Amino acid sequence: MPSRKAGVMSARMKAIRYHEVGGPEVLRWEDIPEPVPEAGEVLIQVHAAGVNFADTERRRGLYDAQVPLPRILGSEAAGVVHQVGPGVDPSWLGRRVVALTTAAYAEFTRAPVGELVALPDSVSFEQAAGLLVQGLTAYHVVHTLGRLEAGQSVLIHAAAGGVGLLAVQLAKRAGVRVIGTVSGEEKERLARELGADEVVRYDREAVAPRVQALTHGKGVNVVLDSVGASTWSASMESLAPFGHLVSYGNASGSPPPVSVESLYAKSLQVSAYWLRTPESPESRRRAREALLSAMAAGELRVVVGLSLPLSQAVEAHRRLEGRGTVGKVVLRVR
Ligand SMILES: NC(=O)c1ccc[n+]([C@@H]2O[C@H](COP(=O)([O-])OP(=O)(O)OC[C@H]3O[C@@H](n4cnc5c(N)ncnc54)[C@H](OP(=O)(O)O)[C@@H]3O)[C@@H](O)[C@H]2O)c1
Repeated sequence: MPSRKAGVMSARMKAIRYHEVGGPEVLRWEDIPEPVPEAGEVLIQVHAAGVNFADTERRRGLYDAQVPLPRILGSEAAGVVHQVGPGVDPSWLGRRVVALTTAAYAEFTRAPVGELVALPDSVSFEQAAGLLVQGLTAYHVVHTLGRLEAGQSVLIHAAAGGVGLLAVQLAKRAGVRVIGTVSGEEKERLARELGADEVVRYDREAVAPRVQALTHGKGVNVVLDSVGASTWSASMESLAPFGHLVSYGNASGSPPPVSVESLYAKSLQVSAYWLRTPESPESRRRAREALLSAMAAGELRVVVGLSLPLSQAVEAHRRLEGRGTVGKVVLRVR
């Protein structure tokens, strides 16, 4: 709990920080000063922090390496507005919110007021912590880039992961035939439960021939690839003529460079998605609202596959990067 000792101006809080890049063990449970919201910001008392695969890449020094250390990880926080900075409407105080932020593995985190999403009571803090990073990513790869429509087919790699399970559900809601890839039996069961029509165990069979068999030699209209190096060639081979490969992650390493010449034979498209690409407020609002209303209506489920106390961030990272999790990984803070 944060402490405000008599005579000491700055309040303190617990947070997970790392001082050098490396394995999960570099994450340290520390006592540090509480942040102070600046103009246009609020201070959120964090109840649940979302853990994302990219956090493990940042910690390993593979991504965002220019950010100075020590650093607190965590791109999304769900909690209660505890303090407002200058110029912020005080009616936000006490409201349940979720927001994209940069330091959510902590008891308190700052967020710009424009990033706040008010939470309906029906959405828990843990579910909300799985909504923004993975939800917006799933929404944009399925709808904005993939432009998937009823009657089409999609191949979704890592279909039982955080983004994967959301993408499976969004594609199914759009009337799309979903083929997922996963490793392991539990992941297969879960991907099917959340709506995948077919599941390919890419830990034990070749993907492209199976996709060709499942589509009677046509291939799929769209592939959503977050795995990268180990799936890339199967993704390209699984596409139908005029197909589209959307790349949005490299969990197994970077894919090879794409030669434009290699796209001609099947008139293919390759595109990429990044959550931090500047986006119009209208487009972001539309995506958030679509996700929240689908969730509140019970049509979109955030499966929290692992929920641990904040102090156990090391274990959360170990399991996530070791392919030992399904759905969302959350750190409980309160
Ligand atoms: N572009 C963006 O803005 C953006 C935003 C959010 C996430 N992402 C990316 O989307 C992907 C999914 O993120 P997430 O947080 O939802 O993670 P996740 O999918 O829950 O976890 C990663 C999954 O990738 C699969 N995988 C395949 N090969 C792997 C390997 N060599 N090492 C580790 N995992 C491997 C594993 O599933 P199997 O065991 O079934 O193979 C694993 O469970 C990540 O690549 C992430 O960086 C990108």
